[in-house]
Amino acid sequence: MILQTDGAIELRRQTMQVELDSTRSGAERNRLGQFATPPGLAQDIVRCLAALLPGDAFPVLLADPSVGSGSFFSAALSVFGRENIAGATGIEIDNAFCQAAHKLWAPAGLTIVCGDFTRIISGPDCPAAPNVILANPPYVRHHHIDRQEKQRLQSLIFQRLNVRVSGLAGLYVYFLLLAASWMQDGGYAAWLVPSEFMDVNYGMALKNFLAHSLTLLRVHRFDPRDSQFDDAMVSSAVLIFKKIPPAAGHSVIFTLGGSLERPALTQTISQNSLLNSEKWTAYPQPPGNKRIAHGGSAVTTLGDLFKITRGIATGGNKFFVLERREAHKRGIPDQFLRPILPSPRQLQSAVVEAQDDGYPRLSRQWCLLNCNVSEALIESRYPALWAYLSSAESIEIKQGYLVGKRTPWYAQERRDAAPFLCTYMGRGNDEKRPFRFIWNQSQAIATNLYLMLYPRRRMAALLRQHPELAAEVFKILSGISGQELRSHGRVYGDGLYKIEPKELARTSGDAFIQQWPELAAGVEQQTSLPGLF
Ligand SMILES: C[S@@+](CC[C@H](N)C(=O)[O-])C[C@H]1O[C@@H](n2cnc3c(N)ncnc32)[C@H](O)[C@@H]1O
Repeated sequence: MILQTDGAIELRRQTMQVELDSTRSGAERNRLGQFATPPGLAQDIVRCLAALLPGDAFPVLLADPSVGSGSFFSAALSVFGRENIAGATGIEIDNAFCQAAHKLWAPAGLTIVCGDFTRIISGPDCPAAPNVILANPPYVRHHHIDRQEKQRLQSLIFQRLNVRVSGLAGLYVYFLLLAASWMQDGGYAAWLVPSEFMDVNYGMALKNFLAHSLTLLRVHRFDPRDSQFDDAMVSSAVLIFKKIPPAAGHSVIFTLGGSLERPALTQTISQNSLLNSEKWTAYPQPPGNKRIAHGGSAVTTLGDLFKITRGIATGGNKFFVLERREAHKRGIPDQFLRPILPSPRQLQSAVVEAQDDGYPRLSRQWCLLNCNVSEALIESRYPALWAYLSSAESIEIKQGYLVGKRTPWYAQERRDAAPFLCTYMGRGNDEKRPFRFIWNQSQAIATNLYLMLYPRRRMAALLRQHPELAAEVFKILSGISGQELRSHGRVYGDGLYKIEPKELARTSGDAFIQQWPELAAGVEQQTSLPGLF
């Protein structure tokens, strides 16, 4: 029998990985969080950990709680060398991956345990506690974990660590906490995880556990525009820690961008200051970057997430925008009327609900006269509309610049309704926002007294798949501070602010990325993505 080198086995592993991935649909892979660590990244992570391991950690007792085809074990073989690995366990839920990993790596000393890591480590056959963990846990969003399963995981973690995990946390949060409870005291771990937990409320339990109960050695965040995976939409971070409470005055190295070995930015942060810190993505802080200082790298803007345009210029709102009652009284046929929002001054509510016919549920409804039919046809077939159009002569509507350029002069620009709008001008100092965001659930379009926000590709896909998230999108938009809006808008002498589409587009969209890392601008450029989550 010809003995294969570890390098040759790694090449076979990569082929098997591609084959296994191709036999599963995007939805299946999402359900189990099956996105393998690219080989180069696995090597970087293990090298980075190896540089921090003291001599007495060797020979290591390794574990990977979600081993897949064994990319980390392979990297460990090449970085540590076989002789420095006393034993290794890989746990995996998917039978096909278990078989592949067993076939590839059992001769090199990897023991595969097939099953659910979260059950195995709390069951009677729990493997020996490792002193080194290498992990890229399944990134399964909370929507895909059913209620009973969440409760089981939450109570397991509460029993083992006295930590309460939010029901909004993804599976990787449970994995990391359970694995930390399992590993040897004084052991080391390197985790490749989505970076979203760093800024969101549901990441608080994990952050406080990391900051309070472990000694964090390194936190590296990849540039969100530079996805680590060809096939998953996450922005990632590597966490390296030692399972021992932090010494007084301990500091953590936070790095961002570039590679683990050569990060673009580095900052040392006292571990104590991380406790209850809301935004870990505020670190490392580039010199003089205001946005980072208030928490977020602002690499994504509203313009990346929404196509922003002014509402339509009608050429004379007084003539072309009528109260619906009035239009009916005049006998103008419904087919020439489109719902339109009232002016911001007349719109009290920030949420515009819809009636069955698509009109806003408002006591006074407005419509836009919207007709492309020739004058001759209108005159012969629609006398009421003809009478109304004829009245334009007396009020000099037809002399207007815009109307003069149009054929026919009463035709309006075609527009879809936008789910979100922002008022175009307003006043406001200090905390008061000069502009208001509107959540438009109706089919009403808007005049140029508003900016219309049309979700772009990834944001549109998110809302298509999860329409219920529109409320959260609206909440984030409404949470943009008055100060930020003013800084992008322009002020007129009397304290009136206006904001043009390009200016609103420059506003930070980081809060969206913190909530849904999949929306990150760089990741958006990918073309063949498995489903959104
Ligand atoms: C993100 S992949 C990482 C695979 C491998 N460690 C790597 O880095 O390439 C996560 C793996 O976890 C597995 N998995 C999902 N849920 C699991 C569970 N409850 N217990 C064990 N493995 C699980 C998936 O099948 C998948 O192979």
